Amino acid sequence: MSISNEEIAGLVRPDSVHKRVYTDPEIFKLEMDRIYGQAWIYVGHESQVKNPGDYITSRIGDQDVIMTRDSDGKINVLYNRCVHKGAQLVSQGSGNAGKFLRCPYHAWAYKLSGELLAVPLRRGMEGTSFDKSHPDFSMRPLARVDSFCGFVFASQSPEGPDLLTFLDGAASSIQNLCDRSPEGEVEVVGGVFQVMQESNWKVFYENLHDTMHAPITHESSFMAARDEAEHLGEKPFELLIMDGNGEPYEFWEKLELRAYKNGHGYMEAIFDPAAATRDPVSRAHFESLAKVHGEEKAREILGMNRHNTVIYGSGSPHTVFQQFRVIRPISANRTLIEIQTFRLKGAPDEVFDRALTYTNIINSPSSNVMPDDIEVYRRCQDGNMTRGGDWVSQHRYAGTDKETPEGTVSTNGTSELPMRNQFAAWKQYMLSGGNAQSQEK
Ligand SMILES: [Fe+2]
Repeated sequence: MSISNEEIAGLVRPDSVHKRVYTDPEIFKLEMDRIYGQAWIYVGHESQVKNPGDYITSRIGDQDVIMTRDSDGKINVLYNRCVHKGAQLVSQGSGNAGKFLRCPYHAWAYKLSGELLAVPLRRGMEGTSFDKSHPDFSMRPLARVDSFCGFVFASQSPEGPDLLTFLDGAASSIQNLCDRSPEGEVEVVGGVFQVMQESNWKVFYENLHDTMHAPITHESSFMAARDEAEHLGEKPFELLIMDGNGEPYEFWEKLELRAYKNGHGYMEAIFDPAAATRDPVSRAHFESLAKVHGEEKAREILGMNRHNTVIYGSGSPHTVFQQFRVIRPISANRTLIEIQTFRLKGAPDEVFDRALTYTNIINSPSSNVMPDDIEVYRRCQDGNMTRGGDWVSQHRYAGTDKETPEGTVSTNGTSELPMRNQFAAWKQYMLSGGNAQSQEK
């Protein structure tokens, strides 16, 4: 490889990073091996493959994979490749394959667990080294597959920490998302939005806890929301969530930013038990939970007021409005975002309606808010392609973060701690040996 570990180490300083980490295709290639070849990466939610035969296509870094549910109800994650000529077994999307997956090229057929079932005109293979029962003649599964609360993750590496150890403090966000359902279960409902961004994947993670950009980048959308509210004489939910970005710096300074190992973290407002009963939708939600758990526990579940959680390499679950923005790197300057919206099983319908409204207003391709971000990400990508300087600053509140047994906490909600923490993890991954399996024959 043309980039040495010494060079990579020199790209990350305690308070800044070299712009090459965003623009260099060689670095992107290494990331696909050393980060996406090792880490646990979110594949999809179990509810996306409800019935035997169901499948969805997904991506782990630069690898096309399929998630299937087989006839035993088991979930499998397999590389999307026929062992005959290498054709993708299924095209992008989702569906029900019936009892087996059949290659569109020569009709080699596989069980939903990936085992080779049959090849046509078998007699032509006799007397050759073809061995139907040998794993080389079955679809290759990902080295490790595990799920937490129905969220399926896979790792291309046979070694490394288990899923919960890997998720660390970010697991509690997934747990809270499920706890918000009176049945303790969530499901992806409706389609999945996709947005292609002309910027590097890491910029999106950095922005998730970048409180300083909100009142600047989103000025056009929050000002429009304020004008409209004045005109209406009230501020309905749709305008309220757009208006939130216009809070002054003093508001953002009070938020708590938590940073965990592997680049994960979340942003949390003060715990607010009143969040449970603030408006009619929240009250109905609270009542449905209180019936199952009692009022105290219901208040505790809904009072946990986390904004974006970062699961580095996978994306960002949003617990309060039931979203998961999945971040799929495509190339050094292209990133695909998938927006999944979850229904809380057993919760009143209006709770899901509210989540859909949030998806549409804040995260969808037709949102008034997200294009603000996409525009600045693209500008960062293009600006970093110029000769106008080499370093990207992460100085804000550097050196003041507090170490706790549960992770690092910022002293101020405007701190660039999350970015520094993400790049500390990035450096650790990138200086590791990479993943042997993805390099196999
Ligand atoms: Fe933003």
